[in-house]
Amino acid sequence: MAGVVKSLPADWYANDEIFQLEQDRIFSKNWSLVAHAGQVEKPGSFVTAVIAGISVIVLKSLEHEIKAFVNICRHRAAPLCTRETGKTTRFTCPYHAWSYDLDGNLLSAPGVELGRDIDASKFGLIPVRVSIWNSLIFACLDKDCVTLSDWLGEIVSIAGGYPPLSGMEYACTRLNECGINWKNYSDNSAEGYHLSRVHPELNESLATRQTRIRVHENGQFVGFEITYKQGESTAPGHWVYKYPGLLMHFSLSSFNVEKVTPLSSTRTRMQRWFWFGPSVGERQREEVVSLSDQVIQQDMSICRHVQKNLESGWFQDSMLFHDREPGTIYFQQCVREALGEHGDRL
Ligand code: FES
Ligand SMILES: [Fe+2]
Repeated sequence: MAGVVKSLPADWYANDEIFQLEQDRIFSKNWSLVAHAGQVEKPGSFVTAVIAGISVIVLKSLEHEIKAFVNICRHRAAPLCTRETGKTTRFTCPYHAWSYDLDGNLLSAPGVELGRDIDASKFGLIPVRVSIWNSLIFACLDKDCVTLSDWLGEIVSIAGGYPPLSGMEYACTRLNECGINWKNYSDNSAEGYHLSRVHPELNESLATRQTRIRVHENGQFVGFEITYKQGESTAPGHWVYKYPGLLMHFSLSSFNVEKVTPLSSTRTRMQRWFWFGPSVGERQREEVVSLSDQVIQQDMSICRHVQKNLESGWFQDSMLFHDREPGTIYFQQCVREALGEHGDRL
């Protein structure tokens, strides 16, 4: 059948081996959003974030450089930093109190004479690649991954049509967790086919006839060129879903970004951050955030029902339609390629 593609098998949506393969071959190999610049503004400020199950410390050094390290003590592998955010001049391990400075150097180890007993230079924290774009901080566990700007591809030029984050005000963050596989959520987020049924209120805020959906292989993302109704006139907007788990909503007056993190084969975390232009009033900000809250609740609700049925044994796989679901087809193809024959074997 022309224009029709077979979907991923249902048992890839609740399978621990597939989950581990995806962590190793997808989330470990791509850049991950770990913080925004405002969270690590002052020297010594830090956040911890998880990439493919690995905890990472992201900080601003005393020389004002953004750095990232694997959050594992080099003595006996205890988690070094147990806080999600804070400010410090050194990290001291809760297990045997080895201490590291903000450049990852081992400073002291109780009962051990550095230099005589061990070569401290061999026991520094393991650095992680880190890079900043549009005031967003990304980290990557893979030394061979392309640069952040190559990874973002054409997103960089799309963002150029909207105000930069540096001129906006950070407003709030929202955290949701849901008992679904991350691909269930990405299948849904990469298409606009469900918009009018699942999100009538969002649909009403758009001049939907003018929506254009494009798969951008340069940057591996799906772009939704949209037009917001604004009284008698209209305003442009762009929604982006970047493989594997990053959504961005650009408009002339606001920006929000959402990070999708798989926690297990059947559990996913979605975190959203919101920024607004300085002229946007409190009421309008609340409206934008509450519409976004409503949309995610609607998506999680339909995805929960789908997840239950994918796990029921009564659904193996189906067809996706090029005309209606090009983004979902593309995302599933990216997953298939990343898993290769390892996925097929399972
Ligand atoms: S594991 Fe960190 S000091 Fe021992
Ligand atoms: Fe949706």
